[in-house]
Amino acid sequence: MNRRLAVLISGRGSNLQSIIDAIQGGAVAASLELVISNRTDVAGLERARAAGLEAIVLSPSDYPDRDAYDAALADLLRRRDIGLVCLAGFMRLVGRPLIDAFPNRILNIHPSLLPSFPGLQAQRQALQHGVRVSGATVHLVTSELDNGPIVAQSVVPVLDDDTVETLSARILVEEHRLYPEAIRRVLEGDWLIEGRRLVRRRP
Ligand code: GAR
Repeated sequence: MNRRLAVLISGRGSNLQSIIDAIQGGAVAASLELVISNRTDVAGLERARAAGLEAIVLSPSDYPDRDAYDAALADLLRRRDIGLVCLAGFMRLVGRPLIDAFPNRILNIHPSLLPSFPGLQAQRQALQHGVRVSGATVHLVTSELDNGPIVAQSVVPVLDDDTVETLSARILVEEHRLYPEAIRRVLEGDWLIEGRRLVRRRP
């Protein structure tokens, strides 16, 4: 598999940092070719530039509609010969033009044990529901929101006195371990999709 990665962000970029660190430390055999943000002035862009990476802002307001924006993203990623696209706190729905350009080649990380609590404020949803465990999920991106085949998950217990902030912080620690590991698995395996499941093809 083409090991040229792009990471798409919208903010803080702590998951981006964990991917940068894993590649630099040799835990993930890949090259991070490009970081794209849909927002200007976010900390993730600074992290990318500090690591010597190309970091580009692609602003949705410069495009007439969602499809045009996603087509521009796809075009940019194709021109850089990207093999795997990693969404890391990219807070936009990804549409057909991008999904079709990179079928089963887009990963996302989400702060819950999917399929529980998709969408926004997953940690708040978990607390409101009263679940005793939550966690993080890395999955393939499909046209269904937060519902593609699962690559990896990690469980985080919910404590009696947890707030959104404390639970989010503990989940984030797990995310930083999980995402590089999931990327490594995807790059090294020969995968096929059976129903909703991602299954390793045996040689
Ligand atoms: C992470 O917790 C990630 O799971 C979440 O946004 C945060 C980004 O943090 N993503 C979603 O909720 C996507 N639905 P980061 O910018 O520090 O990596």
